Amino acid sequence: MTTNNRSWTVSAQQDVNYRVETTFDILDPANPTLIDGEYGSRRLIVTDTTVDALYGEKIRAYAEANLTEHRILVLPHGESNKRWIAVETVLEAIESFKLDRRREPVIAIGGGVLTDIVGFACSIYRRNTPFVRVPTTLIGIVDASVGVKTGVNFQAGKNKIGTYFAASRSLLDTSFLASLGARHVSNGLAEILKIALIKDRDLFSLLEEHGASARAGRFQQHSDAEQQIIDRAIAGMLEELEPNLWEQNLERLVDYGHSFSPTVEMKALPELLHGEAVCLDMALTTAISVHRGLVSAEQARRVFTVMGKLGLPVSHPAMTVGNLLEGLADTTRHRNGLQRLPLPVGIGAAVFVNDLTPADIAAALEILASAAQFEGAAV
Ligand SMILES: NC(=O)c1ccc[n+]([C@@H]2O[C@H](COP(=O)([O-])OP(=O)(O)OC[C@H]3O[C@@H](n4cnc5c(N)ncnc54)[C@H](O)[C@@H]3O)[C@@H](O)[C@H]2O)c1
Repeated sequence: MTTNNRSWTVSAQQDVNYRVETTFDILDPANPTLIDGEYGSRRLIVTDTTVDALYGEKIRAYAEANLTEHRILVLPHGESNKRWIAVETVLEAIESFKLDRRREPVIAIGGGVLTDIVGFACSIYRRNTPFVRVPTTLIGIVDASVGVKTGVNFQAGKNKIGTYFAASRSLLDTSFLASLGARHVSNGLAEILKIALIKDRDLFSLLEEHGASARAGRFQQHSDAEQQIIDRAIAGMLEELEPNLWEQNLERLVDYGHSFSPTVEMKALPELLHGEAVCLDMALTTAISVHRGLVSAEQARRVFTVMGKLGLPVSHPAMTVGNLLEGLADTTRHRNGLQRLPLPVGIGAAVFVNDLTPADIAAALEILASAAQFEGAAV
């Protein structure tokens, strides 16, 4: 009898290829972009109640003109519905539609909540069912439909369960933004501001100059400035994501604004939108950088002023030392025991630190309390 231990090592790599492309008036029945000619002509389309109320007729007209068979599944809208039950509803619809998953990608039309839910369901249905994302919110266009993360909230945890799963295509159409509420436009602008603050000073200048008018006009002026704001945000995001798609490197610049905010957002749910919570985190970390001499008072004034112009908050009652420390502890756990906290350096650059103390947070909150005086700052 032999009792020696034996082992086998498996090593494999996964190819990831997906396209993020812009289109205009995607629901025009004459626009072929949504139905890729290579595939069959049955489709399961998933959307949410708000998008259905606004665009349901157009979606149905498009489907009737271009598909031999379709089913439209309408999920309840909103962050509070970003839960496992919604994933199950999508799985049931895929099953009952008898989807041929190799030829009939699921189409998700909606904001980040909807595309995250559908992406999650598709990633686990037979372990891989292709889907196409059509974001209808600004946060969807510049962020949620650009990367590969899917998921839903679980218990008190923001996006606690999910997968890395790329949509085969993300089709970005800013004409959807015409119907978006101002607060949701600001929500998306927060993620654009994030890219500006950590790596793109020119994008920051564009936001300083044109952010307020882009927000007021919901990006419908189709000006050079509006296009540049969106394109620079997407390009900056992809530049960070592509070399680290599976997040093996835990020092991620795109985590800027996402260190304290998951806890703050969940504590304040449904009061705070995702981008608002991200902005609160960015305001706090800007103040921490002022405290540590990494950002000047004048630079901070410009940052807080832009936040105000974009309709974003710099303070909130949920930003207590207790909540912030709880958030940092949770984030540190997920970053393998180190804070790996991105802090802005000036405008357009950042550094990672691991030595943040409760005193830093208390000092930053004091700086933020006086930030309310800055021109245009919304608190
Ligand atoms: N997967 C990722 O990498 C990633 C990145 C960023 C954010 N997210 C997630 O995205 C979510 C936030 O995205 P969101 O703000 O798009 O959320 P959302 O999907 O809840 O959309 C916001 C609201 O706008 C409505 N809406 C959507 N399109 C509209 C339109 N064209 N006109 C009018 N109303 C419209 C929605 O019904 C909803 O009520 C969060 O859950 C966040 O975790 C994911």
